[in-house]
Amino acid sequence: MKAVGVFPETRQVALVDHPEPRLTSQTDVKLRMLEVGVCGTDKEICRFEYGTPPAGSSYLVLGHESLAEVVQIGPEVSRVRLGDVVVTSVRRPCPHQTCTACRLGRPDFCFTGDYTERGIKQRHGFMTELVVDDEQNLNVVPADLRHIGVLVEPLTIAEKALTQVWQVQERLPWAWVSLDRSPDPIHARGNDDAGPGRCHTAVVLGAGPVGLLGAMALVSAGFATAVYSRDSDTSEKARTVRSIGARYVSAATHTVPQLAEEVGSIDLVYEAVGASSLAFETMKVLGTNGVFVFTGVPGRKAPVPVDTDLLMRNLVLRNQVAFGTVNAGRDAFEAAIRDLRLFNDRFPLAVSSLITARVPIEAHGDLLFGDPGGIKNVISFA
Ligand code: BGC
Ligand code: ZN
Repeated sequence: MKAVGVFPETRQVALVDHPEPRLTSQTDVKLRMLEVGVCGTDKEICRFEYGTPPAGSSYLVLGHESLAEVVQIGPEVSRVRLGDVVVTSVRRPCPHQTCTACRLGRPDFCFTGDYTERGIKQRHGFMTELVVDDEQNLNVVPADLRHIGVLVEPLTIAEKALTQVWQVQERLPWAWVSLDRSPDPIHARGNDDAGPGRCHTAVVLGAGPVGLLGAMALVSAGFATAVYSRDSDTSEKARTVRSIGARYVSAATHTVPQLAEEVGSIDLVYEAVGASSLAFETMKVLGTNGVFVFTGVPGRKAPVPVDTDLLMRNLVLRNQVAFGTVNAGRDAFEAAIRDLRLFNDRFPLAVSSLITARVPIEAHGDLLFGDPGGIKNVISFA
């Protein structure tokens, strides 16, 4: 079976002949891969800066953003059926009894760091023809969303972040969210401006896939949303941003203080660019009672000066919260699938335009090395 293998020892990335996996438990499911997205994490792994093969293997099969079709099921499988289209979660629990998060099925909050991740850390990933996983790690995507289903995993990052934003903002006595206390506040959207983020302003840093999907989620939740990125005002990305009803502010023409002046008091910053100096620069203009969410993982370079007195004064005097968020649980996968449907109804062209290239597995090098351009590029097995 063809697979993209990363060999950290010999510093090679190559198409390998990988053994076909078999069902080993009653609840295992065999999947035929349809599409696998490429992201910054994959490129880092291909530069041998990150990523670990499974014990006993000289290579790691790359790929964690997947879309697949169910082709075989174990005798006790009940969550999926043959022919279903599914997205597989990425992280698996650590083995320690003391890790409350993993024992409760939330390895995205693992305390010990001994979790594994498919295609990233000690578990083979999805850039291959067939894979096997337990049904509990699979999330069914409605067939009519198959053309954009590979966006589910990158969208889970925003969904997990938003869930936490609602939880954090319940600290406010008039609660942003409890105004709409429905069992599913994120999706309690009667009309365009009725989401829990209504009357609030959000800034997204970065117009890559995580940023643009985050912007779609924020617009859908009712935020007046601005995306700040280095692309020009006339770029394709700027047009995409405007087409979903968000504002585009180019870093080429606006400094961070000018951005703040344009958008007014900022209630939420969703960082999706992985540039720490830009992030901390923007934290300086976060508004009163605001929340700052970090999702990027910057490479470690030399230390950069930061105005810590100003940041600390603001955090205290303006009741601000900053948090980081990684990976996602089942709830975020389910929310991502629901939101993808919403995006597909509201801005079908914008959401499908996020997928900018589909290449066969033989051309993996074009997407993993250099700068192929585009937004979300995927390996397609069709
Ligand atoms: C993936 C996450 C993963 C993280 C860290 C990201 O690219 O989307 O699922 O937890 O990398 O390994
Ligand atoms: Zn990723």
